[in-house]
Amino acid sequence: MGTAANIAAAVRELQAGEVVGFPTETVYGLGADATNPAAVANIFALKGRPPDHPLIVHIANAQALAYWAVDVPDNAYRLIEGFWPGPLTLILKRAPHVLEAITGGQQTVGLRCPAHPVATVLLEACGLVGIPGLAAPSANRFGHVSPTTAAHVRAEFGPALTLLDGGACTVGIESTIVDLSTDRPRILRPGMLGEAAIAAALQTNLSTAADNLPRVSGSLAAHYAPRTPLEMVAPEELSSRIQELIASGLRVVAISRTESLPANVLTIPMPAAAAAYAQRLYASLRDADSIEADRIVVEAPPQDIAWRAIDDRLQRAAVGSGDWESTAP
Ligand code: TXA
Ligand code: MG
Repeated sequence: MGTAANIAAAVRELQAGEVVGFPTETVYGLGADATNPAAVANIFALKGRPPDHPLIVHIANAQALAYWAVDVPDNAYRLIEGFWPGPLTLILKRAPHVLEAITGGQQTVGLRCPAHPVATVLLEACGLVGIPGLAAPSANRFGHVSPTTAAHVRAEFGPALTLLDGGACTVGIESTIVDLSTDRPRILRPGMLGEAAIAAALQTNLSTAADNLPRVSGSLAAHYAPRTPLEMVAPEELSSRIQELIASGLRVVAISRTESLPANVLTIPMPAAAAAYAQRLYASLRDADSIEADRIVVEAPPQDIAWRAIDDRLQRAAVGSGDWESTAP
């Protein structure tokens, strides 16, 4: 649990260069001292993540930014004022001493101040012992579904990992990433903090230019993927598609917002509102995967801006999922 004694023990592990699992409001993170090269290397080894993928540095408050970033633009302070602590990562020009392993060799660094009480206490306690930030990717093996409960993290890494349990994450999908390292603010990864809110705070339109995109592992097509093949189906075709798959002999599990699916279909029911759906999304993918069906059929989300980040994660889950050749049609 995230008790004071457990947090103190976690800080000792971090001081020793070890990796610690901890909750944030978005997903659980796999944290290490972002100034310790051996500790950062431990993250890559544990996750099986390619070494050139940059990591987000998690900090206790906006004051800690000065250690990590230089030439911080006014736009950064506008977003910090509006949304930190919260599910927003800022890409800024790096300070010279930031480790190459953190930046992926780029001239920028990703910074985020999470809004979870356990993360806040952990990061503040780290600051007191001279750790100015924790590098923390999502606490899953590379390419797997991100974890939103401590049990998910345990399922990925087993009992040896030091893990702070902060309950189920309230946002449920990864932070919105905004690149402020050039004079054209851009969203690199959509999240539940939406483009409209960010554009309003910046009083500008956001660039959608896809040129020279920095490396963002979440922008690989195959990411956040279950092992079972997954397809998205429009709401009006959902029942008939499921019946077609069942008729061809496949075991199907549906992830659906619709209550009117036939009773013989194994269904994981989902909330109708975007925020509640996002909160449940990764757990539903893990649950669907654990059934070991032949196919996960997900009711496509509404074509509405509020669902954009959810749609993004589902598209990637579909591309990256399973072994399609063995499960026609
Ligand atoms: O909500 C989140 O952001 C979660 C929680 C744990 O905070 N973290 C997370 O980390 O999603 P990870 O490593 O799974 O994804 C971080 C993303 C990657 O796609 C990475 O490429 C991108 O951030 N990133 C990090 N630093 C960057 C940089 N300097 N430039 C561009 N992209 C960067
Ligand atoms: Mg991740």
